[in-house]
Amino acid sequence: MESTVSSLPNVRRVRFDWSTVETDQWHHSMPEFGAGANAVSLLMPYAEPYVIRMLRAGIDEGDLPADGRRAAEALIGQEAAHVNAHRAFNKSLTSASFTARYLDWFGAWVFARLSTRSNAFGIAFAAAFEILAFCSARWAEADLRAYFGGADEDAATLFLWHLAEEVEHKGIAHDVMCAHPTARSKYRRAFVVAFVVLVGFTIVGGLSLFARNLHVLNPLRWARLVRWGISFAFVVLPVAATSLSDTFHPDQLVDPPWMAMWLREFDPASNTIPVWTNAGDSVSKDSVSNEAVSNEGISASY
Ligand SMILES: [Fe+2]
Ligand SMILES: [Fe+2]
Repeated sequence: MESTVSSLPNVRRVRFDWSTVETDQWHHSMPEFGAGANAVSLLMPYAEPYVIRMLRAGIDEGDLPADGRRAAEALIGQEAAHVNAHRAFNKSLTSASFTARYLDWFGAWVFARLSTRSNAFGIAFAAAFEILAFCSARWAEADLRAYFGGADEDAATLFLWHLAEEVEHKGIAHDVMCAHPTARSKYRRAFVVAFVVLVGFTIVGGLSLFARNLHVLNPLRWARLVRWGISFAFVVLPVAATSLSDTFHPDQLVDPPWMAMWLREFDPASNTIPVWTNAGDSVSKDSVSNEAVSNEGISASY
């Protein structure tokens, strides 16, 4: 297919302080949403390092142009920052929950198994993972206030910052896959595996965490979970089908607009990003300068 190079994303290494946050109960009005998000968080320190390793393999084994390599390195930088942020969040989460500790072990086991597959498969998995992450961002932005209203501001900011950067770098792993001699041929199978792993872990993990919540017997919350599953399927399935085409590139997908606008509010001079607020909107960084999460240098190797 025609070679396309995605634009260079910025690496923002945001670090959070979870010492005063009940990370297992951060969503005060919809704990079922918080449980699902926490399951996703528990998987990230295993899923994203695997994606990073496969991107590095793709850079080594593929035929990327120089700007494509720079974009892939920037993507690795963003993913490494996500891993560090989720590790810190999960440390708080697992210290208070046996279920979270078990899910953390299970996520490690799943990706240890995936690591035995070929690099070509893993590179295709990385491209599929990124498409699913983009779909998650598009789904979340479609009803931001409903999903994040009533949530702890820092926890909401963690998940939204991560999703926003998934939009920003949506096409780079696809470029790495297309530059590899054999990875593209593995995409269809890799997409199915990525979907089963990510969605399956979110459902099983989210329900396991929610089962310990006082609201677990409320049928309205279960109805809401079913509605979210259906609405997510309506976002993912058309994109999944489109992505199987040889002429597909993620840059053809329309970005959800708010997340890109929010990332532009990041201030590299002060290393801050506006926190998400319960009002359902981000606010000026000047007005939350004492609360804004800070960006500190993090070095990581995967
Ligand atoms: Fe990420
Ligand atoms: Fe990503």
